[in-house]
Amino acid sequence: MNFLEERIVKDGIVKEGNVLKVDSFLNHQMDVELFREMGEEFKRRFAGKEINKILTIEASGIGIACVVALVFNVPVVFAKKSKSINVDGDMYVADVESFTHKCKNQVIVSKKYLGKDDHVLIIDDFLANGCALQGLISIVNQAGGTVEGIGIAIEKGFQVGGQVIRNLGYQLESLAIVDSMDASTGEIVFRKQ
Ligand code: G4P
Repeated sequence: MNFLEERIVKDGIVKEGNVLKVDSFLNHQMDVELFREMGEEFKRRFAGKEINKILTIEASGIGIACVVALVFNVPVVFAKKSKSINVDGDMYVADVESFTHKCKNQVIVSKKYLGKDDHVLIIDDFLANGCALQGLISIVNQAGGTVEGIGIAIEKGFQVGGQVIRNLGYQLESLAIVDSMDASTGEIVFRKQ
């Protein structure tokens, strides 16, 4: 087990409905030392890629992305979720559907902060169905930039997102891939990497 898998086993809580609660260290209280370790692992996995910007999505991607950005020494931009239909022309816009929350959001990024010269590492906390990632990829494409890679803390390997994104040809690196979990025993099975 790697450092993140160990932490998930120690402090994660498996809930009914295939939900993994990691509030105590990842997306409510945040262990920034763990985030630094994640940043260093991403740096190793994306070695050789000329990354000059980190892109994430609010809310819980932001903390991780900021620490990862410190390790890469590049700026970080987060896509904002917007319910407004009055988005002006200064913004890139993508639709993101949340299966978990059963709602549709638009995500927006100002054209000032992403452009054709950007080589982007996309960072997020969870990958489930991949809708958020597809929205972020669309925004980089609209900007004419390049997606150099995608770094995820926890991928739910039994949902389709990881396969969809890998099939599109992107280098997707998930630090922990959960293949199954059992709320009655608390057991979590990770994919061997
Ligand atoms: P997708 O983005 O991969 O398509 O996933 P989905 O719509 O299914 O997920 C919606 C939200 O639920 C995402 O956060 C995602 O991070 C979160 N999520 C999915 N599965 C789990 C889980 O097992 N545990 C936890 N803790 N979160 C999970 P969001 O609501 O869009 O953003 P945020 O504001 O919480 O960051």
